[in-house]
Amino acid sequence: MTDKEALRVSKIENGTVIDHVAAGQALNVLAILGIDGLGDDVLSIGMNVPSDRLGRKDVVKIEGRELSQSELDVLSLIAPAATINIIRDYDVVDKNRVERPDEVTGVLRCPNHNCITTEDEPVESRFDVLDDGVRCEYCDTIIREDLAAHILV
Ligand code: CTP
Ligand code: ZN
Repeated sequence: MTDKEALRVSKIENGTVIDHVAAGQALNVLAILGIDGLGDDVLSIGMNVPSDRLGRKDVVKIEGRELSQSELDVLSLIAPAATINIIRDYDVVDKNRVERPDEVTGVLRCPNHNCITTEDEPVESRFDVLDDGVRCEYCDTIIREDLAAHILV
């Protein structure tokens, strides 16, 4: 079944379509992927578009680039219901759900100002992924709510 969003955001020839993102989360999806719009990526973003399944949803299309599964798994923190579609020659050649990774490295900032990862030391942040949040592997601080506010840019 094709959602009405197809009429709003054009099909792409090659690349990645991140579909079924909760309404309002598209910009956080880009942030957690480290895409700030200043690079060369050609992006189309649909926000609050009608969806049969979700009522409203966001869609992110990245042209000319096939994101890897591990790149996409960090998305599960922001968009657990997302569907990842790989497009080649206008066809959907691969469709996957995101999976929760065991840990995420370099994508979130630890809220503990005394944590070694937030000081000048060149230590990359690293969080274990829990059922209901993430835990800093260095200082055990847990983030449960509003992960998007902790995304490193
Ligand atoms: N899409 C796209 N460009 C293409 C092909 C598909 O942008 N050349 C987008 C569609 O607009 C849709 C997503 O990729 O948002 C998945 O496409 P498709 O599998 O054809 O749609 P549905 O069957 O509605 O997907 P699902 O069953 O996952 O809801
Ligand atoms: Zn920490």
